[in-house]
Amino acid sequence: MNSEKNYKRHTVTAALPYANGPIHIGHLAGVYVPADIYVRYLRMKGEDVVYICGSDEHGVPITIKAKQEGKTPQQVVDHYHELIKDSFDRFGISFDIYSRTSSPVHHETASAIFKTLYDKGAFTEKDSGQYYDEESGQFLADRYITGTCPHCGYEKAYGDQCENCGTSLSPTDLINPRSVLSGNKPVMKKTRHWYLPLDQHEEMLRKWILESHKDDWKPNVYGQCRSWIDHQGLQPRAVTRDLTWGVKLPLENTEGKVLYVWFDAPIGYISATREWGEKHGKDWEKYWKDPQSKLVHFIGKDNIVFHCIMFPVVLKAEGSYILPDNVPANEFLNLEGDKISTSRNWAVWLHEYLEDFPGKEDVLRYALCAAAPETKDNDFTWKDFQARNNNELVAIFGNFVNRTLVLTHKYFDGTVPAPGELQETDREALDGMAAYPEKIGKAIEGYRFREALSQMMNLARMGNRYLTEAEPWKVFKQDPERVKTVLHTCLQICAGMAALSQPFLPHTAKKLQKMLAMNNIPQWENAGQSQLQQGHTINKAELLFEKIEDESIKGQVDKLLDSRKNNEAGKKVAPQKEAVSFDDFTRMDMRIATILEAEKVPKTKKLLKMTVDSGIDKRTVVAGIAESYKPEELTGKKVVLLANLTPRKIKGIESHGMLLMAENKDGSLSFLSPEKPFENGSTIS
Ligand code: 2FM
Ligand code: ZN
Repeated sequence: MNSEKNYKRHTVTAALPYANGPIHIGHLAGVYVPADIYVRYLRMKGEDVVYICGSDEHGVPITIKAKQEGKTPQQVVDHYHELIKDSFDRFGISFDIYSRTSSPVHHETASAIFKTLYDKGAFTEKDSGQYYDEESGQFLADRYITGTCPHCGYEKAYGDQCENCGTSLSPTDLINPRSVLSGNKPVMKKTRHWYLPLDQHEEMLRKWILESHKDDWKPNVYGQCRSWIDHQGLQPRAVTRDLTWGVKLPLENTEGKVLYVWFDAPIGYISATREWGEKHGKDWEKYWKDPQSKLVHFIGKDNIVFHCIMFPVVLKAEGSYILPDNVPANEFLNLEGDKISTSRNWAVWLHEYLEDFPGKEDVLRYALCAAAPETKDNDFTWKDFQARNNNELVAIFGNFVNRTLVLTHKYFDGTVPAPGELQETDREALDGMAAYPEKIGKAIEGYRFREALSQMMNLARMGNRYLTEAEPWKVFKQDPERVKTVLHTCLQICAGMAALSQPFLPHTAKKLQKMLAMNNIPQWENAGQSQLQQGHTINKAELLFEKIEDESIKGQVDKLLDSRKNNEAGKKVAPQKEAVSFDDFTRMDMRIATILEAEKVPKTKKLLKMTVDSGIDKRTVVAGIAESYKPEELTGKKVVLLANLTPRKIKGIESHGMLLMAENKDGSLSFLSPEKPFENGSTIS
């Protein structure tokens, strides 16, 4: 098994988050908390480790967001890069570097790797037809094309997926495709792209994953890889795109082409390591090229194929890189029984949590690690969060530490008492503690972070039980010597916790270390041994955790329910208007009419001027429908005209009546037409 190799150093990467929005608890639970626990543990073992992350700043969604917000893509990523980086910092996610893929070092690294592969003939080239928007003069990425889904008829399906029925599509599947940029029908145009022929690497992937990592990779990761290799089949994958935002192709005459975001993003790990090395005088190459470096990628399950198949093929084809030893991908975290969704605002955003629960960063780390979706999707609920805090962190961890420190101050003026002769219970407690570094460490090395956390809490549980059973507050009067031994033992357990909790609860560990006035934090292996000398003076006891009241939990649940309400309100039909009498209704003269001609009203976005045959006369009607109909689509259309509406001037044109329209929830408009070809002038009642 590879993981048992004697490695000299560790390169640990955490998925680069897209810089087009803030991050939420799902990200933290799935990737960054487990990776951080892993890295902090390795550092405490004295290992040579670099922990790499940064913002993923390319890709079409970022350009779409920029367009929606009237900003440049660079402005969008600048904003979110800072927001995300700040959230990570405040949660104590201890990256050695948090870089970004829009940086020059990344562009240089990614294009150099592409060029090396190109020169080695690792790509195939192919011309194919792709939709092109003639008005905006550019090829359209899949997300830039909408049209009707051939499966469910949904009219706003994207070129890569229908969000109504979930089917994956390609742009040519769409009925009536439209460019998101201009609204026009796109045309097919030839374009050249470079492909990574994954099929040519099947042998390597089979041997490397299916044969050598059968036992040490998580079953969800191994299973997905096997399904790719055995069932779906490996296909050539385009690694270039027609786009202007991204890493430009380092080839002649390829203006307007960039690397596919999933080609450049994982290279971001390498660029970030390079940047870190240059800053700290380290040889970054060893971390990526020396076979004695252990490379581990922490990711969510939607990233498996890119990290286990595509990126390794790139690394292998380049020739000088190592492959990951493990890719411990997690499943997804749900929230209150529902999928986390950015668009529905069904999420707990980290920057909001930090505002609502200042000083409680470790509580969220704890609750998320305890509920981490390690083997299957899991659910986060605010009730569970509260229970984890009140019943575990406060009632076990905090309570034990607090009782120990308060009693030490009360009976011994805050100095560590000398132990007397150890009784069996004392020995059991101390021996018990000695076993924890290994128990917890094994779980961490096996990527079982929930188990590791629960072992760490078992140490606190053990201390709590030991103290409760020893009852020093009852014994002190008759036997103060015995209390010395008990509190000496409890203080050693507290010191053990101050070290062993560090990977999980870094803020708390630090606070506890300070309270215990620990000058040296032991290496992991020694953290189960007694650390505090008799006579050592400790500092004042402070509360490590405080109870979270029902009210603040209710506040969070209400916040979520509000966003659900808002969402549903957005989907609801408009409420019914006030009642009108039948007489009121009959005063309206509605007729079947035919549109004879239509043209855009100059300098307006929405207005069309139409000539309509009402059966009574031919008249001009102006309507705000240009976003739903093109003038040329309208000639000959039968419609319903409200003929006796008082004429009014719109943009200087007198409009004689109104054409009846239905409005969809998304704001699109549709004419009402007679079901049979009735004559102009037919009345409606
Ligand atoms: O899924 C995502 O959020 C991607 N931005 C992850 C990229 S990981 C790496 F390859 F950069
Ligand atoms: Zn559909």
